[in-house]
Amino acid sequence: MNEDKLIIETRQLCKNFGPTIALNHVDLKIYRGQITGLIGENGSGKSTITSILAGMQPASSGEMFFKGKPHKPSTMIEGAALGIGMIVQEQGYVSGISIAQNIFLGEEGRFRRHGIISRSAMVKAAQEALNNIGCNDIDASWYIEQIDLQDRKLVELARVMASNPEVLVVDETTTALSQRGRSIIYDIMRRMRDEDKAVIFISHDLDELMEVCDRMVVLRDGNLITDLDKPEFEPNLIKRHMVGRDMGEKYYREDYDGTVSDEVVLDVDNVTSGSGLLINFSMQVHKGEILGIGGLSHCGMHELGKVVFGEEKILTGSVTHVPSGQKIRDARHAIKLGMGYVSKDRDHEALVLSASIRDNISSAGLDKINDGPFILPNKEKAYVNQQVQTLSIKCASINQNVQYLSGGNKQKVVFGKWIGRDCDILILDCPTRGVDVGVKAAMYALIDDMKRQGKTIIMISEELAELIGMADRLLILKDGSLAGEFQRSRQLTEHEIIECMI
Ligand SMILES: Nc1ncnc2c1ncn2[C@@H]1O[C@H](COP(=O)(O)OP(=O)(O)OP(=O)(O)O)[C@@H](O)[C@H]1O
Ligand SMILES: [Mg+2]
Repeated sequence: MNEDKLIIETRQLCKNFGPTIALNHVDLKIYRGQITGLIGENGSGKSTITSILAGMQPASSGEMFFKGKPHKPSTMIEGAALGIGMIVQEQGYVSGISIAQNIFLGEEGRFRRHGIISRSAMVKAAQEALNNIGCNDIDASWYIEQIDLQDRKLVELARVMASNPEVLVVDETTTALSQRGRSIIYDIMRRMRDEDKAVIFISHDLDELMEVCDRMVVLRDGNLITDLDKPEFEPNLIKRHMVGRDMGEKYYREDYDGTVSDEVVLDVDNVTSGSGLLINFSMQVHKGEILGIGGLSHCGMHELGKVVFGEEKILTGSVTHVPSGQKIRDARHAIKLGMGYVSKDRDHEALVLSASIRDNISSAGLDKINDGPFILPNKEKAYVNQQVQTLSIKCASINQNVQYLSGGNKQKVVFGKWIGRDCDILILDCPTRGVDVGVKAAMYALIDDMKRQGKTIIMISEELAELIGMADRLLILKDGSLAGEFQRSRQLTEHEIIECMI
């Protein structure tokens, strides 16, 4: 490597959180003119090291250098001023204020005229920042709540790019984005590289990593394991590095015989949702079926999951739980009828961040661990430990707060919360988001097991490969209505499905 291009260097960097060693004497080098992929299983230290570089938290020991000088930013704003911008894995915006205020958070002073902050100047500059990254359709004067989660990620990108960084860190952002958002981010990353700046890209998506990166650095349990240059990129080798061991051949389910009974368990009849994103939609779901649901963003697929689980109000039509003959009234009722729901938006809907792993997981399985009004502690512990083991949730103890888990490990808690309940009908909305490939394989195996036990799974996903790999039948939504239906088959291609989505 051309050492003249070295822009960031860490020497013997360590980070401990109590008993957890998140980084163990890491020597990392980042170069200009390159997109460096940072890979490793969930909890390997990727977010920790990049957030230290960006000034969001201090290291426990070790040194950092940026452009040859000692580097020790004490806040994210200082990191950004020095030239390191980061798009974080979790929520990176402030609620209750406008998009423009988010973009210039902490820099309002720039727009002060005679002691008063000029709102219009700020909105104008923010709109320019958005236009610069190709998001002319987002209006900077709107409140941040007026746009969806994907667009909020793009607002973060606009904020980071407005400070003109020399190093851009993109932490596991692309999983939250649709194709359009992804293209925007890839374009910016390439632009930075061409301008001889540096990009650190964190992702669990092998195809995307192979396509975008010039080099990859592997972390495992807080140790830097190796460096790979583009000519050394080989999918199996990278996968092995990502999970720290050889992966079996099996990934998705292998059968194509499609054994689904005729028995209907859910009947969605002519439903129009309160949000208006689902229009006169009908479908029937069978016992023992894995029903895949796909489409572009805003097609209504996420609302469909909420509607079926009784989480979103419906204006017309009904959702009937056929075995009991009851119409689903709300989420509590759905749970009573043996249904479960893994939400896409894990921090807002699916987890209580300030509670422990134990409380989060056992909350959905209370009836498994209680005796009347009392929770049986030993039963609870065994129940939670079982989920932690099956999904290899990386934590110091089950009493640890969920808030401090790595992104992928949070997602495993959400999944574990419902899978342990033994639901008859499980709705999964992007269940494998941000999860490393090793655990993804374990989740697919669990889903397959559930199907074999006669349970019904509705799997909503933005990943076509996963839908094709797992579903017995696949429904594609477009503008709130059904655009296509595909049966499980070896011949089914992504191309055919995309044709029907657009
Ligand atoms: N604030 C914190 N308090 C306690 N432990 C923490 C904290 N932040 C991170 N950790 C722990 O440090 C380790 C590394 O976490 P980190 O978030 O860097 O992983 P990651 O590689 O980004 O994983 P993922 O792919 O799941 O995002 C994990 O074991 C995590 O639980
Ligand atoms: Mg992370």
